[in-house]
Amino acid sequence: MKLLVIGNGGREHAMAWKLIQSPRVQKVYVAPGNAGTAQEHGIENIAVTTIADLIEFVKTENIAFTIVGPEAPLAEGIVDTFQAAGLKIFGPTQKAAQLEISKRFAKDFMLQHNIPTAAYAAFTQAEAAHQYVDRQGTPIVIKASGLAAGKGVIVATSTDVAHAAIDQILVEQRFGNAGSEVIIEEFLQGIEVSFIVMSDGQHVLPLATSQDHKRLNDGDTGPNTGGMGAYSPTPFIPPSLHAQIMREIIYPTIQGMAQEGASYTGFLYAGLMVTPDKQVKVLEFNCRMGDPETQPIMLRLKSDLSILIEYALNGTLDQVETEWDRRVALGVVMTAGGYPDNPAKGDVIKGMPELMGKRNEIHDFHIFHSGTAFGGENGRELITAGGRVLCIAALGDSLKIAQQRAYEIAEQIDFKNAFMRHDIGHQGISYLHKSS
Ligand code: AMP
Ligand code: GLY
Repeated sequence: MKLLVIGNGGREHAMAWKLIQSPRVQKVYVAPGNAGTAQEHGIENIAVTTIADLIEFVKTENIAFTIVGPEAPLAEGIVDTFQAAGLKIFGPTQKAAQLEISKRFAKDFMLQHNIPTAAYAAFTQAEAAHQYVDRQGTPIVIKASGLAAGKGVIVATSTDVAHAAIDQILVEQRFGNAGSEVIIEEFLQGIEVSFIVMSDGQHVLPLATSQDHKRLNDGDTGPNTGGMGAYSPTPFIPPSLHAQIMREIIYPTIQGMAQEGASYTGFLYAGLMVTPDKQVKVLEFNCRMGDPETQPIMLRLKSDLSILIEYALNGTLDQVETEWDRRVALGVVMTAGGYPDNPAKGDVIKGMPELMGKRNEIHDFHIFHSGTAFGGENGRELITAGGRVLCIAALGDSLKIAQQRAYEIAEQIDFKNAFMRHDIGHQGISYLHKSS
């Protein structure tokens, strides 16, 4: 069968890389993909962008089903349009994607369905929001309600910062329409983890647990980013907590969405805070897989992803199981200079290990591309083309060993002003060290 993946990040590279390992899959197209997907055997990039043209392509090429990577096409209603054309596509409808698209919707939904999350209030008027902050005090979290590419959240440690954030969102409209409403939330303390599942609208198949590193610099400092590295599984979700998360958060979400007439099919990502007293609260929902979480998760997935998605599309996810590599996978993200505000582009990437393009030859690591393209002097050199450039993901018998292996490979790769954190996995490693 032939499949189509939509997107151009490391997440989509990892999904396409996993899908093409299946003996059932002859070809994976990625729209638009990146230089990494272009180099993989059996994977081909297509420069098709509009939903209408994608539908045309899927019909002409007889694509068995399509998988949507990022949230933007979901917010645009790509799933609805494909389904109306009678085509199979894995992802939530526009209505179900409200869980990510509108933080207001997500918070009201959680309140309604008793799903644990930070206490909050929503405002469209700056004056009322300022008064609320003055009553609540700090620390406090200010969020633009709409999609703001991960930039619409300000954790304010002083009231000055909180007031400024409200003005930036509501008055200066820094996030455009996404900021026509603000959510002001109770500040939660604890350990952040990522919990990603597949759903067919009724049943749920959890994927392996993971932990992202959202801040730019070592020690979880500096500005928020899309994610600087991730590993899987995380020791912060032992089996008892896993069961609690399924019971208190995941099942009520899938059931609640069905009750609201917005049945949820697709990957569902719950960003969770595990508090010191082992409560788990939802920080946010994403209606897609995480990036970079997908990269280590796909490196560990032993099951055939194309089969899992087919079960999901048939509404039979209860009849299939996942199998995982017992090792830990850890991915380190290399970013371009100036990321996240103003990333440089067009720098030649050197020192890439020779391993791309060998189908079915599985190594204990893989380099997933995000912002890469071909260019340079002869037009064939690998160059940077975005903020997050590469994710070097490696397997190891322990978190520490996976970390060492990923950095060993990452250190060989170089481009102008390349940047990475040097402590991906640090929370997990010190926790395991303390409890051993
Ligand atoms: P979000 O996009 O909503 O996940 O927020 C981005 C980041 O802000 C999260 O990954 C957390 O690190 C932080 N954050 C969001 N909400 C809260 C909260 N209520 N308490 C503490 N930190 C938060
Ligand atoms: N890694 C965070 C995200 O994908 O939203």
